[in-house]
Amino acid sequence: MDLVVYPDREALAAGSAARIAGAISEALAATDGPVTVGLAGGTTPTAAYERLRTAGLDWDRVALWLSDERWVPPDHPESNGGMVAAALAGHVAAHLHRPHYSADMEPEESAAFYEATLRHLIPDGEPDLILVGLGADGHTASLFPGTPALHAPARRWFVANDVPRIGPRLTVTPGLLARARRVVVIVSGSDKAPVLARVVKGDVGDLPARLLTDVGDRVTWLVDADAAAALSPTSR
Ligand code: 6PG
Repeated sequence: MDLVVYPDREALAAGSAARIAGAISEALAATDGPVTVGLAGGTTPTAAYERLRTAGLDWDRVALWLSDERWVPPDHPESNGGMVAAALAGHVAAHLHRPHYSADMEPEESAAFYEATLRHLIPDGEPDLILVGLGADGHTASLFPGTPALHAPARRWFVANDVPRIGPRLTVTPGLLARARRVVVIVSGSDKAPVLARVVKGDVGDLPARLLTDVGDRVTWLVDADAAAALSPTSR
């Protein structure tokens, strides 16, 4: 398992930015066409996205999209797209493709439109890179335990997901995650330590994080020491 433990959140941000930039740079070198990158939401990736502004990449050949999004207006403080735009996309030539939000739309309608956008962006069906986070309950993107999106048809790439006590989300499906050429999971915080230890031990049961272990050698885990606190010394 490709797992890198950084001493603190600052080092995780710097190390993640370097690893993400390296993966994008490799993808750019491997094709004449655009490179597609799905970006994680939440709070952990923000500092890494800010560092990517100065990575010196050929950003106008990079198409950014969102691994998941909350069902909120684009300027809402909880919007993942808003966070990505403020931290990175608003500062580089890459275009950020965001799901459309309207109070008059059903989330699934927006997810279907966004999926059509992704199919146009990723004609071979293989995203170059998808970044996701990990929740203390073992969720990733907005694939939460026991929610319908976990059972989305294999042909679907992006769906709405109604998450109890959280509300509607839009999320990448297990099917598209499985097709990514590279997946990077970025994890911080001691609240993630128990679930990360289960992932490393292969004891994820039917937690959504299992989808990340199923991706095999195409996944890289970038974690801080707090998140790694329950790992055995040999796992680090
Ligand atoms: C979201 C994310 C979610 C997140 C994890 C970790 O929309 O919140 O997609 O999956 O990555 O919950 O969140 P933190 O990085 O804030 O710990």
